[in-house]
Amino acid sequence: MKNPTALSRRGFTKLLGAGAAYAALRPALGLSESTSNPTETKSSDVVRLSSNENPYGPSPAAFKAMTAGFSLAWRYPDERQEELVEALAKLNQVSKEQILSGAGSGEILKVAVAAFTGPDKKLVVGDPTFEAAAGHAKASHAEVMKVKLNAAYAHDLPKMLDVPSAGLHYVCNPNNPTASITPKADLRAFLAKVPPTTMVLVDEAYHHFVESADYESVIPLVKDYPNLMVARTFSKVYGMAGLRCGYCVAQPDKIELLRAQQAWECLSIMAIVAALASLGDNGQVENGRKNNADVRNYVCGELDKLKFTYIPSHANFMMIDMRREVKPLIAAFKERKVQVGRLFPPLPNFMRVTIGTKPQMERFLAVFKELTA
Ligand SMILES: Cc1ncc(COP(=O)(O)O)c(C=O)c1O
Repeated sequence: MKNPTALSRRGFTKLLGAGAAYAALRPALGLSESTSNPTETKSSDVVRLSSNENPYGPSPAAFKAMTAGFSLAWRYPDERQEELVEALAKLNQVSKEQILSGAGSGEILKVAVAAFTGPDKKLVVGDPTFEAAAGHAKASHAEVMKVKLNAAYAHDLPKMLDVPSAGLHYVCNPNNPTASITPKADLRAFLAKVPPTTMVLVDEAYHHFVESADYESVIPLVKDYPNLMVARTFSKVYGMAGLRCGYCVAQPDKIELLRAQQAWECLSIMAIVAALASLGDNGQVENGRKNNADVRNYVCGELDKLKFTYIPSHANFMMIDMRREVKPLIAAFKERKVQVGRLFPPLPNFMRVTIGTKPQMERFLAVFKELTA
């Protein structure tokens, strides 16, 4: 029997209106009455510094848009998706035929590997780098060539170029897990040399956190290189990891080849309305970058005092040289309710830590001191 006290979705939003529905939802979202920060949770909670998420959460405008988005849940997202594609095209100063939205940039990586690698077309990646692309290559029966990062933890682009029969180069900039950048001059020289039949996917998931003059986004170069694709995400600075929204910028014919690998209507309406609202919130990126830089500087200062070294970070996470095997340390942190990043086998003594809020990093540093004393 239908619960007589339960309200239908339409009744709920109609009765409350979007703003009130948002307020009613706040406890369920883990939000207090006075804050939009979903991470302001009880001190007994686990501190999650393992997935390079944005500890400040999405824009308040995104929350509001999602609340209003309940009333659109019964319809396919096509019209709003088109709006998002148009907004992304405008943002990146390209045509809408040059944008493909996806269920996270992870989906963009998957369809790129499916479209451009195969038994005779290798996938070339840095080592270490974000593992997803290499994982997807199995489905294409493509060989994965791992090229060690250079001494500055940048992609060794000349060595990547030397790999024969490359179908796709995956360049993660800034690179996960090292948080290092590949300098813009090197990337430009590389793009000029890659054969036009080999595709290049530059993953700019952490673009918004970079402040170095040695870095640039390669989106403006897409017009010059028909073999260049750039992946971006709403999971990091926009704080929408759980919503799954990302996109790719490339020339229109390449977008069509990627689209052919994708499911229809794969973005949820919630992700779309939240992404659109986030793009309209000018503070989200600036505040995200600044908060991250401030807390990261604080953590670096504390590590300096403790005489631990780390790879200079250009992202919302960092790699710390623990001077001993990190695997047991990851477990020890977990036992103390602080989750840090997974093991990256080429750097067995390094621990990847997401930059959380200042209170979270204080807890991290307290455990760090205990375990390294
Ligand atoms: C470099 C890089 N690319 C892509 C992704 C996938 O992100 P999403 O699918 O959430 O956009 C991640 C996730 O951590 C990442 O680190």
